[in-house]
Amino acid sequence: MKVFTQIQEIRTQRWQEPLLSWGLVPTMGYLHQGHLSLVQRARAENDRVGVSIFVNPTQFNDAKDLEGYPRNLERDLELLEIEGVDLVWTPTSEIVYPPLFQTYVEVEQITRVLEGAARPGHFRGVTTVVSTLFNVFQPHRAYFGQKDAQQVIVIKRMVEDLNFNTEIVIGATQREADGLAMSSRNVKLSPEARQQATCLHHALSQAKTAYEQGERDAHKLRRLMLDVISQASLARVDYVSIAHPTTLAELDTVADQALFSMAVFVDGVRLIDNMIIP
Ligand code: PAJ
Repeated sequence: MKVFTQIQEIRTQRWQEPLLSWGLVPTMGYLHQGHLSLVQRARAENDRVGVSIFVNPTQFNDAKDLEGYPRNLERDLELLEIEGVDLVWTPTSEIVYPPLFQTYVEVEQITRVLEGAARPGHFRGVTTVVSTLFNVFQPHRAYFGQKDAQQVIVIKRMVEDLNFNTEIVIGATQREADGLAMSSRNVKLSPEARQQATCLHHALSQAKTAYEQGERDAHKLRRLMLDVISQASLARVDYVSIAHPTTLAELDTVADQALFSMAVFVDGVRLIDNMIIP
């Protein structure tokens, strides 16, 4: 496994074997089984696998959140070595955003709701850094987790709109045994908050059951999810949404496919989860 910081080193390595297929897994590090499941899929579907580890400052709208983001590069590299990754890019902020940098990629409407409403500028940072990653690696396929449902929708929109020559592959959300979606942020939960953090998954599961029993009224389904979350004393809802899976418009009725998603502060730690129905 080769680990490089400079863009030119990645480019040279990438184009040494131009006929081989490349899969890229973009990450911000502090890797867990959610990330590794994407790496394993990339490993199975490509000749070569690249991973980027970069805590991207432009997608954080809160300096404290950026500063407190968990990091452990040494351990991350050990895990990636075990997974048989070929190439890892660990750039500095100055390499991705040199002093004269002033170019951003912005997807419009669908970034203004849900996570985008709660975190202004977040998706502009994501689409900009993902564009840089795609230009540096020029991967045939890039792997993203369903855990970040809106990120997936926004990146697919960007790739289609700007004709990036990269196929976007989506991996299922990896969960702990009690249903909590794996996240680098989970380490910030106190033991009690960790227990209550299952309320997101419970709310989604109960909404799924109600849907399967015939409930199609999106207002009632949102109310049901809010009720489940309100039973957790440390939980404070940021949003609960039932939206169209491409336009992200809020739905009155669940007729076709719908994205059920939520963001909840549990003891101050902001967690997200989602499911696509049916
Ligand atoms: P990060 O939060 O490190 O996540 C990297 C990738 O892992 C994302 O595609 C995310 O959806 C996926 N992932 C995280 N938790 C997961 C889980 N429990 N199951 C399955 N996949 C999971 O998302 C980012 O980084 C950044 O926004 C990035 C795309 C790297 C751009 O900076």
